Order: sequence, then structure tokens, then C-alpha cells
Amino acid sequence: MKLTKRTQVAIIGAGPSGLLLGALLHRAGIDNIILERQSPSYVLSRIRAGILEQVTVDLLHEAGVGFGVDTHGTVHHSIELVFKNERHPIDVSSLTGGKVVTAYGQTEVTKDLMDHRALSELETVYEAADVTLHDYDSSNPSITYKVGNETHTLQADFIAGCDGFHGVCRASVPKNSIQEYEKVYPFGWLGILADVPPVSPHAIVYANSDRGFALCSMRSMTRSRYYVQCPMDDKVESWSDDLFWEELKKRLDPELASQIVTGPSIEKSIAPLRSFVAEPMRFGRLFLAGDAAHIVPPTGAKGLNLAATDVKYLSTAFIEYYKEKSSAGIDNYSTRCLKRIWRAERFSWWLTSLMHRFPDTGGFGQKVQEGELDYLVHSQALSTSLAENYVGLPLNFGE
Ligand code: APR
Ligand code: PHB
Repeated sequence: MKLTKRTQVAIIGAGPSGLLLGALLHRAGIDNIILERQSPSYVLSRIRAGILEQVTVDLLHEAGVGFGVDTHGTVHHSIELVFKNERHPIDVSSLTGGKVVTAYGQTEVTKDLMDHRALSELETVYEAADVTLHDYDSSNPSITYKVGNETHTLQADFIAGCDGFHGVCRASVPKNSIQEYEKVYPFGWLGILADVPPVSPHAIVYANSDRGFALCSMRSMTRSRYYVQCPMDDKVESWSDDLFWEELKKRLDPELASQIVTGPSIEKSIAPLRSFVAEPMRFGRLFLAGDAAHIVPPTGAKGLNLAATDVKYLSTAFIEYYKEKSSAGIDNYSTRCLKRIWRAERFSWWLTSLMHRFPDTGGFGQKVQEGELDYLVHSQALSTSLAENYVGLPLNFGE
């Protein structure tokens, strides 16, 4: 077996960022190989958010994998805010000149991209261990990794670090070349997936209550995704399904609470909430994209969408490099991404701060949130600001 290979772009990580990048590059005739630490079934077992901006849906189409979202996605024209036990619809579509978001799970997006990659006979090395980057600062970068007991070498023109928050790529950069900004929130989200019809099939519900935040979302007309804010050190084992459903209902208005259909959970997990950005996102011939470079708390549903736009900018930059012999996109990549990222970081932090119970702000904090929510639902200006960020700012916003 040949243990040294060469490709144009070596992609580390087969999450949505790596797979989407691979598909976009392949369509443009650019070779790529993906190295992934986990097995395909492990990658697909991770349940994450599921709200796609139109920009993301368009990118899936561009990559040749729009069929799943077209067939099984649910278009949402509005969201609902619940506070002081009352529901307030926000018609995000009419506030943004007709834009919508689509409910379609990240797991499904990943599966569509994986199937497409397999059909296109593109190489993905799963269970690649000890992935190590070499000479990414030179014109001859390479990667070594192990499969079983054998060490392989992959030489490439460029390395795309799509390996998530705990990946090896950002960790390979010397500390003094990278600046990290981080905020950890003092709570987590307990989420469950259940095969029951969603309580609100046409609008995601975001609830502020004095017991903490709750969210009602969906994967399909027969599969729901619900979350409640929980203490950051809480354990999944201390939440029976019954306890979860009771708590969820207590955080909603009486009408929604009475309409919740309960059932056994098919997945239950607790996720911490964090805001994080690493700057810059390019180091010589190494480029970070998606969760490898930034994390948003899930309240604004921006994580997957930001990853997708990083990948759009990165694929465009590589295409310009190979087809037009121009390095402009590559040189601009980090600056261009970071502008969009900080706008989404701001939005996600704001919505998180508005909707959750913070242990140290007490009754005053709660009342101020209710005052702002009351202002928001009655102000065209603030509702429009929420709506335009929720559906996603245009790709060329501010350029
Ligand atoms: N070597 C190879 N692969 C690795 C390594 C490594 N050392 N470390 C991590 N990986 C793989 C992980 O196993 C994972 O499959 O990189 C992949 C990264 O995928 P994600 O964490 O899903 O990150 P990304 O593709 O950027 O997707 C961003 O995920 O967390 C959500 O909100 C986020 O929706 C957004 C999306
Ligand atoms: C989800 O469906 O999992 C979801 C929806 C909206 C969010 C976060 C998560 O803001």
C-alpha cells in the first residue's frame, strides 16, 4: 500500500464544514481528501441544531445536495417569543422582505453530504488517528496520521482545519500567533429528541420564564426537539423524561403547555453554552473554518450557518487561486469571515442574554428582560433587527 499521497486541499474533519467544503471544491474540479478522527456512525450520532438560513440552503444546492432539504425541510416564516406567560409571534418573513428559515437537522445535512461524497467516490479517511500538521507555514505543507498501526503522509497545497472546537488544527498554532476571545455562560441546555408531533410546526418558540429559558423546535412533523435551560453542572441522569416534560410545560404559556404531546425521548443530552472566537483564521497555508475557529451559544441558531458561510468564502478563495491564479480571496479570507462572525456573535450573545435566567441578576434582571421583550414585540425597529439577524444578513452585508 502507498503510504504517501498528494492532494490539492487536505481537509481535517468530516463535520458539516469539512464535508461541505469538500463538495464545493469537487464541483469546481479541485481535489480534496478528508481525514476524520471518528467513524461515520459516530459523526452521525451527534445531535445538534437544525435551523438553516436561506444562504445555507442555497449553498447546499450549489454543492449538489439540496434534495434532502427541499424534500424534508420545513419552511418557517415566523418565530414566537413567550414571556410573562404570553405568546408573541414575530413575522420574520414580512419584516425582511420575504426571507424565511428552514428547519432541517444538522444530522440530516451531514448525512446528505456524506452520501453525496460516497457517490462521487471522493476519499474520506475515517478513524484517522494522531493527525499531525507539518510545515503549514511553508509552501509544502503535509499531514501525518495513523490508520491501525501504519503511519500515512498526506501532502497538500493547503490545509483546511474543519475539525471543530476540540480539533488539532487550532491547537497546532503557537499561542502567540492567535488571539482567543471567550465567554462561558453559567448554565447549559438540556435537549431531548422525541418522536412526537411538534407543538409549533410553523414557528420555533423561544420562551423566557422565571424558571429559565425553554425552546420548542422540530426535525419533522413527527419528530420534535425541545430544550430547557439547566444548571451547567447538571447530569442527564437526573432528568427522567417525565421531569423534562413537566419542566418544559412550566416554562411555556398555558395554551402551548396544554398542547405539548409527550413521549419517550430517543436522545437526551446537556450542552454547555459558550461564545468563542479565534483570530486570525489563516496561518500560512492553514485555514480554520466552522467550530474550529468560533462557537456561538445556540440561542440564535447561527452555528451551522456561520460554518457554512466560512466554507463559502474559503471555497471561493481556493477556486480563485486555482482558476484565476489570484491570491486575493485567500489573503482576505480571515478578515472577511471575522466581520460576519462578530455580527453573529453579537446577535447570539444578545438573544442569549435576553432569554435566559442568570443566577446573579435576580428579580431586577428578569424585569429588565421583560421590559426589553415588551419593547421588542411592539417596536418595528427592534423586531426588524431581530428578524434580519435571525434569517441571516446577506453574504455581502457591509462590503
Ligand atoms: N483529527 C481528525 N478529525 C478531527 C480531529 C482530529 N484531531 N478533531 C476533531 N475532528 C473531527 C470531529 O470528529 C468532527 O467530526 O472534526 C469534525 C468537526 O465537526 P464539527 O464539530 O461538527 O464542526 P464543524 O464541521 O465546523 O460544524 C459546525 O457544528 O457544533 C456545531 O454549531 C456548530 O452547527 C455547527 C457545526
Ligand atoms: C434546534 O432545532 O435544535 C434548534 C433550533 C433553534 C435554536 C437552537 C436549536 O435556536
